[in-house]
Amino acid sequence: MVQLTVNGQTHDVDVEADTPLLWVIREQLGLTGTKYGCGVGACGACTVNIDGFPTRSCTLAVGDLREGEEITTIEGLSEDLTHPVQIAWAELDVPQCGYCQSGQIMAAAALLKDYPNPTDDDIDALMMNICRCGTYNRIRAGIKRASELL
Ligand code: FES
Ligand code: FES
Repeated sequence: MVQLTVNGQTHDVDVEADTPLLWVIREQLGLTGTKYGCGVGACGACTVNIDGFPTRSCTLAVGDLREGEEITTIEGLSEDLTHPVQIAWAELDVPQCGYCQSGQIMAAAALLKDYPNPTDDDIDALMMNICRCGTYNRIRAGIKRASELL
């Protein structure tokens, strides 16, 4: 049995300690906004924020979480889609197919906590998630727009 705090709620889940966090989020908790892409920590589709830090949930075993760590998924970023990144993404129609975008949004939200006025270099250095549709220019514009809304 593993205890997790996800989007402000504590859950006891009956899984092995080496189960990837992504599976627990999607299958035990039913939070399917977080996506499975590569499964090896490369693409970022599975990004959630742990204590505000963007984390690839496909390669993190739930048994490696520390007590009291707060996990935030795309469903918990805001209650009503009013996080600045969500507003900016909608304004600028950032997604194309959308598959990578929950991970991109979580990474962008984490970036803006540390860099409220990010430069292009900050964005290039910190946004490591892959978008197979190539929406990188709109992601950059979305982050800049979100920084105006903070
Ligand atoms: S699915 Fe986790 S990094 Fe690709
Ligand atoms: S919007 Fe399609 S993979 Fe990024």
